Amino acid sequence: MNESIYASWKPVLEKIMHRLVDYLENKNAEKKASTGESAFEHINYRIKGEESMRDKCRRKEIPETPESALCTIHDAIGIRIVCCFLDDVYDLVDVIRNIPGVRVAKEKDFITSAKPSGYRSYHLILEIEDETTDALGNTPGHYYAEVQLRTIAMDFWASLEHKMRYKKNIPAEQMKYLQDELYDCAEQSAALDKRMQSIRNLIAENKEEEEETKGFFLPLF
Ligand code: GTP
Ligand code: MG
Repeated sequence: MNESIYASWKPVLEKIMHRLVDYLENKNAEKKASTGESAFEHINYRIKGEESMRDKCRRKEIPETPESALCTIHDAIGIRIVCCFLDDVYDLVDVIRNIPGVRVAKEKDFITSAKPSGYRSYHLILEIEDETTDALGNTPGHYYAEVQLRTIAMDFWASLEHKMRYKKNIPAEQMKYLQDELYDCAEQSAALDKRMQSIRNLIAENKEEEEETKGFFLPLF
């Protein structure tokens, strides 16, 4: 069997990925316990498969080495967090910024500025320090993870678009129509996200008013 492109670093990547995921799951549980609402709906994570990492190296015309896989390419670790509401995405970005030992190396807000396809998500590349020597020989080592944050509506669109993207043999004129349709679906689901956020804000305002009223009358009894 050929040697892994991650050489002896695969367990290090797994350890770092689980450390990040555990941190986020703990934050989720804390928020649920204190407010009754979750920080996110679900979280998925993976180490990029051997073959897709090798494919990516070939696409980028870089050697298929641990240095490329761990230091040049930054999504060997991939974490996707799906939230219920738009505001939850931005709240979580702040939580991630404050993870100890983690620096945000790059960020792209494809929610404010959607991709031409219609794709929306908030992408972060995290640089994580770990005591293990990295593929460039640095100790402590520097490792990377790509985090994608999105709402359920964005995830619904991205998952279906991804499934259909690889369908072959579609005539050019139909392709244009399909792309326009998919773009329009993305716009419609973005509008739904905004409406859902407004509904949530209204409910929260009413709840606050209710609490204030309760607080006002309580001392009388
Ligand atoms: P690569 O990391 O080489 O793919 O390119 P990049 O660094 O420019 O990545 P970018 O941050 O633009 O996007 C990386 C990931 O976002 C992809 O691997 C997908 O998971 C997701 N993504 C980006 N654009 C789209 C899109 O149009 N549709 C869907 N479904 N997913 C997308
Ligand atoms: Mg990328």
